[in-house]
Amino acid sequence: MVCLGNICRSPLAEGILKSKVDTSKIFVDSAGTGHWHVGDEPDKRSIAIGKKYSIDITNQRGRQFSAADFDEFDIIYVMDNSNKENVLALAQNDSHKKKVKLILDEIFPGENVDVPDPYFGGSVGFETVFKMLDEACEEIAKRL
Ligand code: 4NP
Repeated sequence: MVCLGNICRSPLAEGILKSKVDTSKIFVDSAGTGHWHVGDEPDKRSIAIGKKYSIDITNQRGRQFSAADFDEFDIIYVMDNSNKENVLALAQNDSHKKKVKLILDEIFPGENVDVPDPYFGGSVGFETVFKMLDEACEEIAKRL
């Protein structure tokens, strides 16, 4: 699960998907394309919305996405088109590129919808982000 800062959207996506799959068989992790929050806890607002729905993300720490992740992971879900561009810029071959998917394609196939970045307090808040990610992860979990 990849976003920009790895403190708002992708930690929630990681926590939500982990709650829906057998984590002894499926390894779920998250990262940010940016470096600013490496080692940081998730944003307090993400922690709070997770807690509201019984998803504890407090043990997560920010890390930066790296090219090595293409070999480590089978599927790389990005939260928005900007994350997608940044991740694809690190891909070294077609097999890497094929692993990258926009997470909301899971529920709105082919519609190219972004999970809005709630960090700067835009109109779409953490509750909406949580619901989008919950629906998408439900679909992902069914297929896994
Ligand atoms: P995220 O949100 O990508 O959902 O974690 C952001 C968090 C931090 C920043 C930007 C987006 N930032 O610029 O520090």
